[in-house]
Amino acid sequence: MAAAPAVRFPVFGLVRLLGLAAAAAILFWAVHFRGGMALSTEEESKLPLFNVHPVLMLIGLVALNGEALLAYKTVPGTKKLKKLVHLAVQFLAMFLSLIGLWAVWKFHDERKIDHLYTLHSWLGLTCFIFFSLQVD
Ligand code: HEM
Repeated sequence: MAAAPAVRFPVFGLVRLLGLAAAAAILFWAVHFRGGMALSTEEESKLPLFNVHPVLMLIGLVALNGEALLAYKTVPGTKKLKKLVHLAVQFLAMFLSLIGLWAVWKFHDERKIDHLYTLHSWLGLTCFIFFSLQVD
């Protein structure tokens, strides 16, 4: 069987750049246009509490999870070290996403909005559960 062709395009660099750009853009959006972020707020709209959700979900499940997947290609050294970095970054992603989920749940509680009434919320929760089940 012929060997897979070598990719000369710097694809990992591009993927990392896109993750970084997305994280920077959502942070800027939350802080500059949406009134910032807070885990607890007296504001009636509770918007700063909600804003924690999209920011941490993207940084956690998209940017950091992507970085964790790339660890096998980007971290130099032994397979054991690559695996350790992969696991550590995925745990960080899981931790940040948990705070993001907790924030939107608390936002719904404080605004007296029902939970889990949209397709987004069910798909999101399913996605998070499958992500967490990967730990083996
Ligand atoms: C992988 C990433 C994400 C996951 C796993 C996720 C998960 C969830 C879950 C489980 C809820 C329901 C909370 C409740 O019922 O109390 C929710 C609500 C919400 N999320 Fe996300 N979310 C993600 C990303 C985002 C992003 C990036 C945005 C916005 C830019 C967003 C906007 C919302 C909004 C507006 C709600 C309230 C309405 C609703 O319940 O659907 N989410 N999310």
